[in-house]
Amino acid sequence: MTTNDPATPFDVTRTLPADATGAALRADVLHGLTRTPRTLPPKWFYDARGSELFDEITTLPEYYPTRAEREILLARAAEIAAACGARTLVELGSGSSDKTRHLLDALPDLAAYVPVDVSESALRGAATALLAERPGLGIHALVADFTRALVLPATPGPRLVAFLGGTIGNLLPEERTAFLAAVRGMLAPGDFFLLGTDLVKDEGVLVAAYDDAAGVTAAFNKNVLTVMNRELDADFDPDAFEHVAVWDARAEWIEMRLRSTRTQAVKIPAVDLALEFAAGEEVRTEVSAKFRRDGVTEELRSAGLELTHWWTDEAGRFALSLAAVAG
Ligand code: AVJ
Repeated sequence: MTTNDPATPFDVTRTLPADATGAALRADVLHGLTRTPRTLPPKWFYDARGSELFDEITTLPEYYPTRAEREILLARAAEIAAACGARTLVELGSGSSDKTRHLLDALPDLAAYVPVDVSESALRGAATALLAERPGLGIHALVADFTRALVLPATPGPRLVAFLGGTIGNLLPEERTAFLAAVRGMLAPGDFFLLGTDLVKDEGVLVAAYDDAAGVTAAFNKNVLTVMNRELDADFDPDAFEHVAVWDARAEWIEMRLRSTRTQAVKIPAVDLALEFAAGEEVRTEVSAKFRRDGVTEELRSAGLELTHWWTDEAGRFALSLAAVAG
């Protein structure tokens, strides 16, 4: 469905069925909480409160990825623009489009911006703010799940598809493979893919970034319990779970978990579940994979994409990769 309200100088296309979110949450909870070990996908952190907490995380002294990526974008925007000559910028998981501004400012020939997000309110807010700054920009917002194949609007090429923030690290390896294949499917020869990845580094630095002293990440993690209480009428007691962040050196990812502090029973009526948690039992709520240049190059190559540029911040904590469609 496309809405083109004359009062709204951008169009919004929705590819998610109205109850897609509720049905997906029920399926994920049913599947994830009845298996051993228990898991929940990280996308359910991001209701209004969770998005606010995430924004707060990005300002914490321990949480370096956002600042490191912004440093690279600011330093390299002109190089990125020159390398790809994009006329359309597609941003997957665009949210508030904050990071995108540096890129938009550096792309003089840009005709269209296509932000893709599951949150229609975030898309409308971002489009309205951007249009105030760049009135000539054609904005075609897509309300869609970016992990699925997307039908992009027919805007001028070449296209630059961007996936920033290190969010690819929140996908499990098999999800990552499927995601990169979907990205490849959006690109024609001459198009480019810009990817943000957090890098493997000292364990202490990584764990601190996911277990900050002020407890904001703990509140963010526990927010998923509040989401289930509200959306599924569950009765989780957030005070009966503690936030855990551990580095898995073999998988090279940070795992966030919620650990039950005591034996407890939880009811989730919307999916007809009655769960028993043992004291110390954990639910894995997020993986945040950290990368190396060789691994990124290889994963892109397997998807039919060829790394053409690799930029890091001065401290070497985070990387932006630019990839072309392999010839
Ligand atoms: C969504 C990828 C930016 O994995 O670092 C922040 C989410 N989780 N703190 C990340 C997150 C805990 C985040 N990204």
